[in-house]
Amino acid sequence: MSGKMEGMATEDSELQTAAEVFDTGLAQIKQYVDILTSRGVEWGLLGPKEAPRVWERHILNSAALTSLIPEGSRVADVGSGAGLPGVPLAIQRPDLRVTLMEPLLRRFNFLSQVVEELGLGDRVDVLRARAEDCDELFDIVTARAVAKLPTLIGWTKSLFLPDGYLLALKGVSAADEVKGSAKALKAGGLEAEVLVVRSHPQAQVTHVVRVGRSN
Ligand SMILES: C[S@@+](CC[C@H](N)C(=O)[O-])C[C@H]1O[C@@H](n2cnc3c(N)ncnc32)[C@H](O)[C@@H]1O
Repeated sequence: MSGKMEGMATEDSELQTAAEVFDTGLAQIKQYVDILTSRGVEWGLLGPKEAPRVWERHILNSAALTSLIPEGSRVADVGSGAGLPGVPLAIQRPDLRVTLMEPLLRRFNFLSQVVEELGLGDRVDVLRARAEDCDELFDIVTARAVAKLPTLIGWTKSLFLPDGYLLALKGVSAADEVKGSAKALKAGGLEAEVLVVRSHPQAQVTHVVRVGRSN
């Protein structure tokens, strides 16, 4: 098979996987991918090399968190950037209320446009704030590529409710980051575990650190 044909086969299978993961939200997630790979690249929010691999590395990776989020949760996605993982989760899970939290004006503006264009405004808010300055409470806090775990714990520990969690998408460094966070966890009365999840049997696995209050 030529390289081009292989690429087409991969793209087809990713779209098939996405159709199963996003179900009735497929048109919305495709629209989001179109925005990310055009305006997102123009605005410097997504590297041009990321565009061809956006489904696997960004969309399906974000959607992997879904099994860890209880029905009807209020979710804050801190350091949302171009909307990851918060926008895919909001599209996949119409039962969630999602706050996309982002301090940088340019990214805040991008997120506001995305929410309006995708028609998500009735249950997705965009908040221009640093996590550590926010005084709202959420069931679940998500974060991807925002800060090292001890810093992230410090910024977010007062954002989730007593029976809530921080879910940090962390890749293979997850276990080491948990080891390096012992002090921050103890100081906050928190405990952490590493979970390996994926959005679909055909998608790559990803490592998530779940941080919650110690019993
Ligand atoms: C590398 S980007 C990751 C964006 C997105 N989560 C993703 O996975 O593509 C890190 C983001 O964290 C934001 N950020 C940095 N410090 C922050 C803080 N204290 N609170 C909330 N967001 C912060 C940055 O503005 C940036 O958009």
